[in-house]
This record gives sequence, structure tokens and C-alpha cells, in this order.
Amino acid sequence: MERLPGFRDFYPEPLPHQDVWSADARQYIFAKWRTAARCYGFREYDGPPLEPLELFTTKSGDEIVGQLYNFKDKGDREIALRPEMTPSLARMVAAHARNYRKPIKWFAIPQLFRYERQQKGRLREHFQFNADIIGETDPAADAELIALLIDTLRMFGLTAADFVIHLSSRNAWQDYFSARCHDHTKSYEFFQIVDKLEREDLAQSDEKLKALGFSLADVNRFIEAGEPTLELRAILENLAARGLADFVKVDYHVIRGLAYYTGPVFEAFDRKGEFRAIAGGGRYDNLVKLISGGKVDLPALGFGFGDVVLLELLKARGLLPNFDSPVEVFVLIEDEALRADSLKLVQALRAAGLAVEYPLTRTKPDKQFKRAQELKARHAVKVEADSQLRIRSLETRQETVALLAEAAIHLKG
Ligand code: HAM
Repeated sequence: MERLPGFRDFYPEPLPHQDVWSADARQYIFAKWRTAARCYGFREYDGPPLEPLELFTTKSGDEIVGQLYNFKDKGDREIALRPEMTPSLARMVAAHARNYRKPIKWFAIPQLFRYERQQKGRLREHFQFNADIIGETDPAADAELIALLIDTLRMFGLTAADFVIHLSSRNAWQDYFSARCHDHTKSYEFFQIVDKLEREDLAQSDEKLKALGFSLADVNRFIEAGEPTLELRAILENLAARGLADFVKVDYHVIRGLAYYTGPVFEAFDRKGEFRAIAGGGRYDNLVKLISGGKVDLPALGFGFGDVVLLELLKARGLLPNFDSPVEVFVLIEDEALRADSLKLVQALRAAGLAVEYPLTRTKPDKQFKRAQELKARHAVKVEADSQLRIRSLETRQETVALLAEAAIHLKG
């Protein structure tokens, strides 16, 4: 039985094949995401992977709707696997907004599902670090969020030579649109064309723009001028004060595909331009109101940062660590008469917090030792008669003798 296309099996290292995904690398990424979020004072939340279809159909925009995994459940409900976290977050916040002091700073690491055409950096399932701030209109919040994104990328060893945040503004684009077109129902269609400018055939974009009464040359002039709005200036100044100016630049090519963005928007790219966007986000000041049917009105902003492009980038830059086995101590059982004492030792060492491995069944001594070496255990330990213990360092080959009762102290030291 094959797995579904676009889905991944995660294996522990060492990987059996180059094409499979590393469960250890995934854990490494999640741990860094959590550490970064904690440093910035974000609290973790989660929601259900299945949601009512309606949560996504009107709020996220056509592109995501076309990629939905949706079906009817046995209770005849129209449901969908979540393609993104933001609508669920808006729903959750709206339900209990009064219970939390503003600004709310929350993060999550959901698995998301999109029925996309498979390509480099795009699968049908991915994990995404989401960090969002709810209840603050000041650009200081946008800067705080972008600083978190920059610092998270830096935690993986990436530098200003590796990545840059392209900062833009839906407000700037909205003003551009309104000055030239009075039919506001067309604005999202226009944003979608701008979003795809760098990926689509120019003649095709030109044609689509003309149909809406715009010209590609004029759009390009606006992008090239790249005049930052007041809010973008405030964000840039805030980031510069943190010493992060080198990590960000204004780029009006970015507009974001999702429908709900309202203000500053941004995407993180690798400097060499080899990969798709590493992360993306922005302000969505109307979504909580829209999803709560007008009951709760809170400004919000956030980003989504996927694991797929990040892993490709870390691999390409040689920034993934070795994922050796976590075993620290291997308990050798060469004399089966000492198995009971050895098991007691295994439990005592584990209770002291050490990662311990041992042969489950009668095994030849040389095989046991080989296994200890394969696992890169730091110590091989053997129970001997008279409650004594022989400890061998597999790094220095030195041997020491200790009392069974003091084993943990010796091995932890
Ligand atoms: P998004 O731009 O659709 O934004 O996704 C954010 C990131 O998720 C992308 O930059 C990419 O790293 C990753 N990603 C998206 N789709 C795939 C895929 N099919 N395969 C692999 N990786 C993918 C959002 O989802 C917004 N909800 C983010 C947000 C949070 N905005 C405000 N708060």
C-alpha cells in the first residue's frame, strides 16, 4: 500500500532513504519554533483539524477554496480539513475574547491540508508555525511579529546573508486600486493578479490587468518606486532600533494571496531566490468581526511559517545538525544470572533522567557492545558481583568501578 501523493512518512534517523522525511528534523524544528515563541511571550493554543466547510469558503479567498479537502461526514455536515489556521484562531478568539487581556499573543503548530498541485516546496500536507497578535492596531505589533519571524529564522543558524523579509502594504495597494478603479468588488481579483506577477507569464498578467482597466507598466512603476507608507516606516524604524534593519526590505511585489489581509503584509524569502516563500503573513483587522458575525471586533495580525521550505533551505545551507540516537548509557548483560540486578540498574538510571538501552533478550557480548557503539552511547555499564558496577567510557575507553547505588551520580557527572 502506497501513501497518498503529497503526504509524508516521517522516519527516525538514520534515514533509510534520501526521499523520506526525518522525524528527528521535524522535532528539531518544532522545538526551535516553541523556544522562539516563548522568548517573545506567546502562548500555545490548538484547534480541531476538521472544521465546518463554511469557515473557509467565504473568508480565505478563491485560491484556498480551490485547494480544500472537503467532504460530507456521516451526520451530513459539510466539513473540511483545515488548509490554514487563521480562521480557526479568529473563531476561537471571538468565542472567548473577554477572558483574555489584550493584546493576545498566541502561537500554534498545526498540520494543514491543501489539495495543491505538487511542486518543489509544496505538498498536500505541511506543518506551520503560526504566531498571531490580536487586539493591537499600532505598527509596534507588526514590528514585534516580524522580529519574532526574523529571530526564529536566526535560531536555525540562518543569517541576513541567507534570508530577507519582503515588507509591503495592502493599504498601499488598496489606495493604488481605489485611485484608478471605483468598482470595489474587483479589488480582490486585482490583488490576485499582482500576487502572481512574478510567477505567471507577463503577457497573461498584462491581459488580465487590462481587462480590469489597469496597465502592467503602471503597476510595475508603482512596485519599483516602493514608497513606504507611514505604517511601514514605523515598522522599519522599530526593527532598526532592534538592530534588525538588514533583515527587511520594502517590496510591493508582495501582496499576499489570501483575501482577508488589510494592512502591512510580508513574506520571508531566501536571498538566492532558490525557494518559494519560507513564511508569510500580515494584518487582518476585519476577520474576527467577519467570523463572529459582527459580535466581536478586534484587530489582528500574524504569520504562517511552514516546515517544508524551511527544511529544504536548512539542508541546502548545511544547517541541520546530526540526529544521533539519544542513548547515553548502554547496560551490558553478559551474565543472565545478573539480569534482575541489571534491570534494577536500568530503571534507577532512567529514574535519574538518563537515556538507557540494554539487550531485551540473551545476546552475545560482542553483539551487545557493537550495538552500544552503533547507538553512540557515551557509556557501557556492566553489573558485576557484590553490587559493583564496571563503567566504560566509549569515548575515552577508560574504565572505572563504582558501587551500584552510586551509578547515577557517576554517569550523570
Ligand atoms: P500562507 O502564505 O498560505 O499563509 O502560508 C504560509 C507558509 O506556509 C508559506 O510561506 C509556506 O512556507 C507554507 N505553506 C503553505 N502552503 C504550503 C504547502 N502546500 N506545502 C508546504 N508549505 C506550505 C497562511 O496560511 C496564513 N494563514 C498565515 C497567517 C497567519 N496570516 C496571519 N496569520
